[in-house]
This record gives sequence, C-alpha cells and structure tokens, in this order.
Amino acid sequence: MAGRMGFMPNNEEEMVVTPWTVSGKIDYSRLVAEFGTQPITEELLKRIEKHAGEMHLQLRRGIFFSHRDLDWILDMYESGLKFYLYTGRGPSGPVHIGHMVPWIFTKYLQDKFDAKLYFQMTDDEKFLVNPDFELKDSTGFAYDNALDVVATGFDPKKTKIIMDVKDSGLLYKLALQIAKKVTFSTVKATFGFNESSNIGIIFFPAIQAAPAFLESALTGVNVPCLIPAAIDQDPYWRVTRDVAPKLGYFKPAQIHSKFLPGLGKGGKMSASLPETCIFTVDTPEVAEQKLWNAFTGGKPTVSEQRRSGGDPFICPIYYYEYYLFEEDDEKLKEISIRCRSGELLCGEHKLALAEKVKKFLKEHQKKREKAKDILNDLLFDNP
Ligand code: TYM
Repeated sequence: MAGRMGFMPNNEEEMVVTPWTVSGKIDYSRLVAEFGTQPITEELLKRIEKHAGEMHLQLRRGIFFSHRDLDWILDMYESGLKFYLYTGRGPSGPVHIGHMVPWIFTKYLQDKFDAKLYFQMTDDEKFLVNPDFELKDSTGFAYDNALDVVATGFDPKKTKIIMDVKDSGLLYKLALQIAKKVTFSTVKATFGFNESSNIGIIFFPAIQAAPAFLESALTGVNVPCLIPAAIDQDPYWRVTRDVAPKLGYFKPAQIHSKFLPGLGKGGKMSASLPETCIFTVDTPEVAEQKLWNAFTGGKPTVSEQRRSGGDPFICPIYYYEYYLFEEDDEKLKEISIRCRSGELLCGEHKLALAEKVKKFLKEHQKKREKAKDILNDLLFDNP
C-alpha cells in the first residue's frame, strides 16, 4: 500500500489522495476545491487563539489549513456547548512521526478546550485492506500503536481508545443505523470501491463514522464533535456528514492537516519503504542514519552548494523542522535564510536535525514504556 507523499514541486506524478493512497504532487488548494472544504481564515485563527491563549505552531504555519464547520464548533463553544474530539489510527505497522502530527495538535485542542477525546484504532479496516494480514496482525499493531497514543500525552481521564474489534459491541448498533442510510453507489463514488472490493470494506465506513456520533448516542443529548486528521481521511467525513441529519445528530466538524513528507526524493513517505519514515520505535542511531541518507535536493559539491544555496521547499529536512522540530519561528526563518544562501550545508543541517529527532525519540520511548502501565485505564471496559 502506498504511503503519504509530500508536496514537492519537482514531483510530476498525478495527485491521488484517498484514505489508503496518497501520492503525487499534492495541491492543497485543489483539494479544498475538490473536497468542498473551507480554508482556515485569519479570523478563525484569531478566534481559536482567543480561547486557547496561544496559537499552536501547526496553526501559525498553516499545517492545519482547511476545515468544515470549525466556525460553528466555536459558536457552540462560545454559547456554552462544549465539543468532544475524535481522531484515530489504522494500525498497519509501527507509528511514524507523520501520524503524530495530528495527534500532537489534538492534544493541544484537548488541553486548551478541556475536551474529551475518542481515539479509534481501526484494526478491522487494516485487516480488510491488507491482503497479507491476519486479524491478529492488525489487532497486535493496535495495542502497540496505542502506546504511542498514550505517550502523546492525552489526559487519561478524558480520553478513551476504541479498539474496533474488541469494542464492536460499542459501535455496531450505531454503525448499523449509519449503514442503513448509505447506499453502495455513495461509497462507490466516494471511495472508488468496485465489484472486486470485499464486502467488509464496503461496510467499514459506517464503523469509522460511528465515533462521530458516539458521545451523543451514549449520553442521549447532541454533543458537537470535532475531528482533527490529515485531509486523506476526508472521504469518511463526507459520508458521515450526509448521514448525520438523517439520524438526528449534529454533523461532525473537521480540521484538516497537510502531510509531513517522507525522506525520499519527492517527499515520498511509505511505511513499506522504511528508510523514508522515522518510526517512533526506531533507535536514535537508526533515525540518525535515515536522516543522513535523506534526499535534500542539495548540490553535488560543497563549493556549488555554497555558491547557489539550497531550496528549503524541496527539502524534507527543512520540513521536519517546520512541522515538528523547530518551534521558534525566528530560528526557523534563520535556518531557511542560511540554507538559501549556501551558508548551511545539507550535511550540517542533517546532523543538527538528527540531534533534535534523537532527543524526541528518547523521550517518546520512555513515555511509551510508562504507557504500558496506564493503557488499560484508557480502554473501554468490555468483556
Ligand atoms: P492512518 O493510520 O492512515 O493515519 C493516522 C493519522 O495520521 C494522519 N497522517 C498524517 N498526518 C500528517 N502527515 C502524514 N504524513 C500523515 N500520514 C497519516 C492521518 O490523516 C490520520 O489522522 N482510517 C484511519 C484511522 C481512523 C481515523 C479516525 C483517523 C479512524 N478514525 C478519525 C483520523 C480521524 C487511518 O487509517 O489513519
């Protein structure tokens, strides 16, 4: 299965963005137009900042760039009706740091808006779409990946992780009601299913839709839901939003992020090409080696690089700073200027980023170990 690719201007492949494949040169404005979402405006950013007290770097830097009904969620919040958050992971292997981009942002929203979070682990989805998987493979990854979720730092008192297969009883009634309102022709048009698609994956969108109504279904009152995720998950939300009024629920709101590029040429990131991703379980040494081997678009010789400079906008090393590892906007600007002028050489920059990534991994892996002790508290109590 293909992974997420970046948005490198030198990539001429046609853009494909579905929940299972992201490839080609990503044109985010085109996605907003084609998916029918809204760009995040300055006014919305100010409203978030007013409530949160600070603007997360993923908002400041336009990494979260698009939304549906975010203004409505804020209207509700301002009128005293709090929203809950819903996000998730398809456990098909170890977690890479791209997956953590929306999770880190979700934690910010949870902290600042004091919001409850449902986190869905779709071990069913990944079993259905991976021809080589047995159910125990994706379920195994679900428990492993849940350690990364806990290590992200969500509030254990306000967070519940839904393990789809284990918690089928929790979701099934709701999924049935959703499924009854969605035709094959809708999911065919939305997801590209065809005669050869297995019937499990044709039903599955109802399972991914269910947590968007779960809080309302469990409490018996309508609760607004906000879903932070990269924009590849949007087809699920289109179906979910169509069904919502038919079942008497609020349409869930979304806030969409861009994709952290991989380390390969053209920003290619694919879990099946491990050298293009930093996994959260990589040893610091392995991560350093991957960064060292990354494509940067740098010139073949030092003197050429010094003379013509680099281009941060085709360089994953720069994007890793931009998305995750350099919080200080001034320092980020300096990196970009020094790269362009040829003062900062690619090798030097790779080593500097590797230090930050290694520090992050060491800390994250400690938290992952500790997560083993509390994971159970975040799971639903089901027989
Ligand atoms: P999955 O496992 O493909 O991805 C998990 C989350 O990571 C986002 N993502 C990325 N974000 C930034 N940069 C990247 N390179 C990158 N790659 C992936 C995805 O958009 C997602 O937010 N079907 C889902 C699981 C799911 C879910 C949800 C996700 C169930 N319910 C609700 C989000 C919200 C999946 O397979 O995600």
